[in-house]
Amino acid sequence: QELHTLAKAKGKVYFGSATDNPELTDAPYVAILSDNNMFGQTTATNSMKWDATEPNRGQFTFTNGDVIANLAKKNGQLLRGHNCVWHQQLPAWVTNGHFSKTDLLSIVQNHCGTLVGHYKGQVYAWDVVNEIFNDDGTIRQDVFSQTTGMDFIATAFRAARAADPNAKLYANDFNIEGPGAKSTAYQNLIRSLKSQGVPIDGIGMQAHFIVGELPPNIQQNMEAFAALGVDIAITELDVRMTLPSTPALLAQQQRDYETVIKACVNVPRCVGVTIWDFTDKFSWVPGTFAGQGAACPWDQNLVQKPAFQGIVAGF
Ligand code: XIL
Repeated sequence: QELHTLAKAKGKVYFGSATDNPELTDAPYVAILSDNNMFGQTTATNSMKWDATEPNRGQFTFTNGDVIANLAKKNGQLLRGHNCVWHQQLPAWVTNGHFSKTDLLSIVQNHCGTLVGHYKGQVYAWDVVNEIFNDDGTIRQDVFSQTTGMDFIATAFRAARAADPNAKLYANDFNIEGPGAKSTAYQNLIRSLKSQGVPIDGIGMQAHFIVGELPPNIQQNMEAFAALGVDIAITELDVRMTLPSTPALLAQQQRDYETVIKACVNVPRCVGVTIWDFTDKFSWVPGTFAGQGAACPWDQNLVQKPAFQGIVAGF
C-alpha cells in the first residue's frame, strides 16, 4: 500500500515524510522518499531554520533548503516550510544581540519575509511560529517574547503573508495534540490574531509521541481548532519507545499510529500527516532522547514495521 494514495482517497491533501540533506546520499532511502504515491509531501527537518538560512544578520543562504525544495518539485510533492521563528537553532547574533523591540521586530519581519519570499510559489504551508507556548499555556520566555512581548507573532505572520500570499500560515507546537492548557492557549491566540486581522490559516500538531502514551481525545481537540476556522496538520509524527524494541512495543506502536491517522481522517479540516522521517535509520529520536528510538514506520534497514500497517489501517 501507498500512504499518500490512501490519504488522498480519504480527502486529505497529503501524507508526507520529512527529510534532511545528509540523508540524500543514501540511494535506497531516496528511492522510497521520492515515491510520490507513498509520500505526497516533504519538510526539511533542518535546512530552512534560522541558523541555516540567516547565519549572520542580513546574510541569507538557501543552498541546503533549495536542495530539498528542488527534490520536492522534481518528485511532484508538496513542501511544508519549517520554520520562520523558533527559539532553537537560532544564531547567536539573534539570541545575544540585545536588540531594542523595534529592531528585533524588524529583524523578524526581514527574516520571515526574505525566507518565505525566497520560496514563494513553492510552499504549501509555513510553520511561521514554532513552540511559542509553555505546557501551562504561558508564553515561552525567549529572546522574542522577552524583547517584544507577543508582538513578534503578528509581525511574523504578516511578513509571511506579504511574501507569499498563497502559502498557508501555521503555528506549530508539541503537546497540543490533546485538550489542555497549551491547546487552549493556541485557541485563544488564533481568536486574538483573527480579531486583529492577522493572517493565520492552520495549527500544526507535531505529534512526537511515546508508545502507549498518546493523549486522549485527539479528534475532539482537532475539532475544537476546526471550529475556529483553521486547518489542522500533523506535522512531525513519530512514536518512540525505550530500546530495545519488542513485539509488544511494536504492536502498541502500530495501534498508536492507527489512532493518530484515524483522528485526522475523521476531521475534515485535518489536511494531512507528516512523519518526522520515515525510517529509524535517520530518526532524530536516539540523538535527542537517550535510550529511546525505533519511532518510525520503517526500520533501520528501510523495511516496513507493524507501524506501517497501523497507518494503512488508520486510512
Ligand atoms: C529536530 C531535527 O529533526 C534534528 O535533526 C535537530 O537536531 C533538532 O531539531 N520539533 C521541531 C523540529 O519543531 O524542528 C525538531 O527537529 C524536532 C522537534
